[in-house]
Amino acid sequence: MERAQIPAIGAQPMLPFIFFFFFFFFVIGSLSGSCLGQHTEDESNSSAMEVTAPMDSRQREALYSAIQGFVGKWWNGSDLYPDPCGWTPIEGVSCEVYDGLWYVSRLSVGPIYENSLRCTRNPTFTSHLFDLRRLTALSFYKCFSSSPHGAVTISDLPWERLSRNLESLEFRLNQGLTGAIPASLSHLRQLRSLIVLENGFAGELPAEIGNLKSLKRLVLSGNRFTGRIPSGFGGLTNLLIVDFSRNGLSGSIPLTFGGLTSLLKLDLSGNNLQGFLPDEIGNLKNLTLMDLGRNNLSGGLRSPIQEMGSLRVLMLSNNPKFGGDLTGVNWSNLRSLEVLDLTNTGLTGPIPESISDLNGLRHLGLGCNSLSGTPPAKLSSMPRLSSLYLNRNNLSGKLMFPKSFYRRTRWRFRAEDNPGLCHEAEVAIPFGVKQCLLEFSGRTEVVGKMRSEEEDFYRKPQLEVSTGYRNFDVGLVAREVLVVVATVLIIC
Ligand SMILES: *[C@@H]1O[C@H](CO)[C@@H](O)[C@H](O)[C@H]1NC(C)=O
Ligand SMILES: *[C@@H]1O[C@H](CO)[C@@H](O)[C@H](O)[C@H]1NC(C)=O
Ligand SMILES: *[C@@H]1O[C@H](CO)[C@@H](O)[C@H](O)[C@H]1NC(C)=O
Ligand SMILES: *[C@@H]1O[C@H](CO)[C@@H](O)[C@H](O)[C@H]1NC(C)=O
Ligand SMILES: *[C@@H]1O[C@H](CO)[C@@H](O)[C@H](O)[C@H]1NC(C)=O
Ligand SMILES: *[C@@H]1O[C@H](CO)[C@@H](O)[C@H](O)[C@H]1NC(C)=O
Repeated sequence: MERAQIPAIGAQPMLPFIFFFFFFFFVIGSLSGSCLGQHTEDESNSSAMEVTAPMDSRQREALYSAIQGFVGKWWNGSDLYPDPCGWTPIEGVSCEVYDGLWYVSRLSVGPIYENSLRCTRNPTFTSHLFDLRRLTALSFYKCFSSSPHGAVTISDLPWERLSRNLESLEFRLNQGLTGAIPASLSHLRQLRSLIVLENGFAGELPAEIGNLKSLKRLVLSGNRFTGRIPSGFGGLTNLLIVDFSRNGLSGSIPLTFGGLTSLLKLDLSGNNLQGFLPDEIGNLKNLTLMDLGRNNLSGGLRSPIQEMGSLRVLMLSNNPKFGGDLTGVNWSNLRSLEVLDLTNTGLTGPIPESISDLNGLRHLGLGCNSLSGTPPAKLSSMPRLSSLYLNRNNLSGKLMFPKSFYRRTRWRFRAEDNPGLCHEAEVAIPFGVKQCLLEFSGRTEVVGKMRSEEEDFYRKPQLEVSTGYRNFDVGLVAREVLVVVATVLIIC
């Protein structure tokens, strides 16, 4: 089977280049010897064919009818786009040549590009869409808004008809798409990427999705999914990205997730997950980001965490029953860690000095817990630490950080609401922490006139409302993680 790819979206700008190549091969072919000449004639023959390849008429009609379903009956491509894959491509449609004929290979519906097809107020899926058997990628972006005409489901559609080729299926920002994710999606055996982001889907996740063994990306965030995470998902060993954040999922994190050994990103935040972190999670040696925040997890931090040597971002904030302490983990094994957010996780006990072995740490969020003891002075020796949240704990004693540390962290150092805690530094005074009583006089010194920098230092924290989750420079870290993830995806 012959297979050559020219995306129709770029076809018009590419034409001069195609002609250039045609001309180039033609000239070389006629000037050079027979061997080279023979070879280049074949080349020019096939590239000429790509430009002028006809489109199967049934394929063309199926494309027009499928698009009409989304953009409205008024639309008829036969005038505007007599050659939708060649000379007059439709924005959002790409084609490939198979056996001398054009077939639609990618279809993107919704305002992605400037001239993209906009959806009507009551778009529908027509069966013609599923006649586009050579589709490898299908995406819907802001197409199905919640409309007065009633919500649309994808449950009864003949997805199996796209099973031979579809590799990527995306629904982004379609609040009008409701109902369940159908088990029939499991027929799409070639699927590498399933993105279901910010739609109106609800119900339980079908266990059959666990049959899509080629999946590398599974994003189901921002819908209204409920019920347990099927344990069969742990068999999707090619997964690089799992994001089920911001749903209503309950139950525990499946033990089988320890089998997702290729995983780079695991985001289950903003659900109602309960129970312990499975020990098997220590098998995720390549994981760079784990966000389990805003759940109802318990059981505390245990040693399997320290096996995850690639972790750069670990967020467990706002699991108030999580509990445990910071002494059960050998922190020196998590050398890649840049963000550690344990805000509001019910932590008790002291802050171990060994946490300062985290050389790359930029943000340490320990606020809103029940930590006790004196914060180790060594925390201030972490070279990259730029935000440290210790507020609302039961810490006591004297803060032993040098002035340079307060200057570096400024309002990203928080230690207020620790009744027993006091400070000694005179230049930059941490917000909300009282000055230690001078041992000889037994009374608190009144602080002198503040310089403007220090006034700034005082004012800023009062404007900050959150407990730390939003305050650190997650942008930088996230960008770096994205680069890693993007690189891997490009490679794959
Ligand atoms: C090259 O073009 C000729 C007609 O000009 C056609 O018969 C032949 O099948 C083409 N070869 C290929 C490889 O497409
Ligand atoms: C578009 O219009 C032509 C004639 O105007 C008609 O033959 C064709 O069936 C129409 N296509 C669709 C998809 O409605
Ligand atoms: C983990 O990452 C390394 C290097 O990036 C890679 O060689 C290895 O195959 C990955 N492990 C798994 C289980 O994917
Ligand atoms: C959180 O989990 C505990 C059990 O660990 C349960 O009793 C409680 O109801 C859960 N809270 C919510 C809000 O679901
Ligand atoms: C922590 O891990 C490091 C490196 O793996 C090791 O050298 C050290 O002995 C461990 N510390 C403890 C207390 O287990
Ligand atoms: C705070 O810590 C002190 C010891 O420093 C302890 O006696 C007290 O019970 C703790 N308070 C709470 C509420 O945990």
